[in-house]
Amino acid sequence: MRMVDLIEKKRNGDALSEEEIQFVIQGYTKDEIPDYQMSAMAMAIYFQDMNDKERADLTMAMVKSGDEIDLSAIEGMKVDKHSTGGVGDKTTIALAPLVASLGVPVAKMSGRGLGHTGGTLDKLESIPGFHIELTTEEFIQNVNKNKLAVIGQTGNLTPADKKLYGLRDVTGTVNSIPLIASSIMSKKLASGADGIVLDVKTGTGAFMKELSTSKDLAKAMVKIGTKLGRKTMAVISDMNQPLGLAVGNALEVKEAIDMLKGKGPEDLLELCLTLGSHMVVMAQKADSIEEARKALEHAISSGKALETLKVFIEAQGGDSSVVDDVTQFPEAPYKIEIKATSNGMVKSIEADRIGTAAMMLGAGRATKDDEILLDVGLILQKKIGEAVNEGDTIVTLHSRSEDVGDIEKIVQKAYVIANEHIEAPTLIYEEIT
Ligand code: URA
Repeated sequence: MRMVDLIEKKRNGDALSEEEIQFVIQGYTKDEIPDYQMSAMAMAIYFQDMNDKERADLTMAMVKSGDEIDLSAIEGMKVDKHSTGGVGDKTTIALAPLVASLGVPVAKMSGRGLGHTGGTLDKLESIPGFHIELTTEEFIQNVNKNKLAVIGQTGNLTPADKKLYGLRDVTGTVNSIPLIASSIMSKKLASGADGIVLDVKTGTGAFMKELSTSKDLAKAMVKIGTKLGRKTMAVISDMNQPLGLAVGNALEVKEAIDMLKGKGPEDLLELCLTLGSHMVVMAQKADSIEEARKALEHAISSGKALETLKVFIEAQGGDSSVVDDVTQFPEAPYKIEIKATSNGMVKSIEADRIGTAAMMLGAGRATKDDEILLDVGLILQKKIGEAVNEGDTIVTLHSRSEDVGDIEKIVQKAYVIANEHIEAPTLIYEEIT
């Protein structure tokens, strides 16, 4: 087989066979196919798309390019949740202990933040003493005992995706449904879950800005998961503004704790109950979505979910007394209020800009080796659809420095205040099974 023939075949709009896709992915992973040929192939896929079979074959070839995690030593049906990423998305931190408290085993592999979105691992490390370095045995033991453990991704999971993603990033081929869907699903499949609940974000702060393309991506991923034998469903949720009110590592963990105490923001709670209900039903711990939702609500009101969070924190070396006394979290020295400059209603809050502001405060990384600050970030005081008067605080910055002129400008740009009636946006657009 010759790579140039396969590039021409895809360029001409023909489907590649399973063997041909394996040849491409194996060859590229082993450095036998050069970047320039793989770039041409990625561009051909970008323009010509792939059919359902090709998408599944590509996903499986990427899974087979590296290690696969064997979770069979964990009792019960393991259900994973994956979000396509957004600003203020602390869902995992609240959702994982919430569903684990109902006996659903959650064996979670999470990532670090890069760019304007934060990573779950960074957020969890704002809990004093908490670490994510568990051996595979400890990871499995913790899930069997406490129903919950979180670790970082192992080194050799889907190396083909790691290499291809780096190439796509610099060749204008990121935004392709078959390439995104196979990239995400290969990592989920290699991580060993039996079932996958996907949270596909849509809106200005999401990868996919339009509802129709978010739907296409969700459908593509559900088809791949189902074709490859995993129960898979997707929820399409809003990212036209950050989720919840807090953006920044310790601030987001505190908000997730508040949610488990029954005092969290409405949108975060609603998203966790929606995703959680599907996870609980998938794990066969409830017969219907309604029953699962009631059980989740009870886990919050009874304190059971909060207790699971504490046990999880202790099992990974953390000090769980922060849950009852959140003043023990790192706290930034300066709280700086940003005021509205006009009267009206909040029409939009560009999540990307809010994420960039948090990154400039030090909460995120511009490059993967940057140190991050755990205490800084921002709290949104007004969300879309709320009325504001000139001089009202719209955002409180938590900063290490008093000099925040540039950051304030970005926050002001992120907020659009209009002199008209604005409804709060829909949170859950659609569920795809
Ligand atoms: N996230 C991924 O893991 N891969 C993509 O291609 C896009 C988003």
